Amino acid sequence: MISLTVNGARRSFDGDPTMPLLWFLRDELALTGTKYGCGISQCGACTVHVDGQPARACQRRMSTLEGRTITTIEGLHPTGEHPAQVAWRELDVPQCGFCQSGQIMEAAALLRTKPKPTDGDIDTAMTGHLCRCGTYPRIRAAVKSAAEKLP
Ligand code: FES
Ligand code: FES
Repeated sequence: MISLTVNGARRSFDGDPTMPLLWFLRDELALTGTKYGCGISQCGACTVHVDGQPARACQRRMSTLEGRTITTIEGLHPTGEHPAQVAWRELDVPQCGFCQSGQIMEAAALLRTKPKPTDGDIDTAMTGHLCRCGTYPRIRAAVKSAAEKLP
């Protein structure tokens, strides 16, 4: 039995320990904000936080998550008012939206460690996130805007 915390709630799992976290989130907890893109750690669509660090949920096996704390886009802020979420809305960042929860989770993790990121910091942090719609300029602008909103 694996016990973990997801968005503040204690959860347990006693299935296949090699199953990716992404399946647990989407199929067992119905937390479908986290997306499946490539499945091979190349696109970033499945990014969540594990103990506060950005992690690719398609690559994290359940067996590695005993006692861990997971945050998904649904749990980033109780009412969707995290500075990144506010900035994303204000700048109308998403096009199709598929990649954006992963983008926001990466940005939120960056802002926690670097509240005033440089352009280079932003590019480095976001480089592993693919957006088929090409919203990269708005993503960068939104990260900067979110940084300005931080308390
Ligand atoms: S689905 Fe996990 S990185 Fe693409
Ligand atoms: S908004 Fe469509 S893939 Fe990024």
